[in-house]
Amino acid sequence: MIELENVSRDYGDGKVVHALNNVSLRVARGERLAVMGPSGSGKSTLLNLICGLDEPTAGVIKIDGVNIALLDDDTRTRLRREKIGMVFQTFNLLPTLTTVENVSLPLRLQGISRKESEIRANAMLEKVGLEGRATHRPDQLSGGERQRTAIARALIFVPPVLLADEPTGNLDSATGEDILILLDDLHFEFDTTILLVTHNVEAARHCDRILRFRDGMVVQEERLNLAQVMG
Ligand SMILES: Nc1ncnc2c1ncn2[C@@H]1O[C@H](COP(=O)(O)OP(=O)(O)O)[C@@H](O)[C@H]1O
Ligand SMILES: [Mg+2]
Repeated sequence: MIELENVSRDYGDGKVVHALNNVSLRVARGERLAVMGPSGSGKSTLLNLICGLDEPTAGVIKIDGVNIALLDDDTRTRLRREKIGMVFQTFNLLPTLTTVENVSLPLRLQGISRKESEIRANAMLEKVGLEGRATHRPDQLSGGERQRTAIARALIFVPPVLLADEPTGNLDSATGEDILILLDDLHFEFDTTILLVTHNVEAARHCDRILRFRDGMVVQEERLNLAQVMG
């Protein structure tokens, strides 16, 4: 599903920062991978490269066997929108739009009518338990509701891949646990491949595998057994 071959991302000239340093990894369809590591170890860089917001300095990234660097801009944008949902730590909701408008935005950008977009957005809001919040604006929502809105937006195309950058980082632990259960439910319903960046060991336990990064490299890999995932 996702393959990285010797991927590096350097920043700056002069004193270069190796945000990612020759990383190779494969994530299978339907796998849930937790990405852990200290601040500055390259976790967000990894997600940004996979979703195409950033480009590697070296190496190859393939999504479903397709090298995304070889696509033209339009095709890459469409692939990103339809195949990869991204949830940012700070939600990145548009403050002047309502919940349903925020969630339908990717559909509108793809040229789908307002009516059709809102029907699909409302169905997604129901899935994430926000059916009563469709006409609220972000500042009228709690942190957990904003994160649900961001997740609903990321999932509006029912993408095979969901990338989530510390999705529970700004939430209290009970709300964070609700979000993790929501991700579990979505995974079981749609077989979504999930990359979850987290500092939280409890959150990582919702995954099948944990990769620990340090200085832009994978320093440890741990496979969680099913009993642990279920338990
Ligand atoms: N746009 C950028 N310009 C320069 N350096 C950057 C940029 N983005 C990230 N970095 C550097 O790359 C390294 C990895 O950053 P990041 O992937 O954000 O780490 P993490 O998400 O694990 O905290 C850090 O040293 C960071 O300062
Ligand atoms: Mg980060």
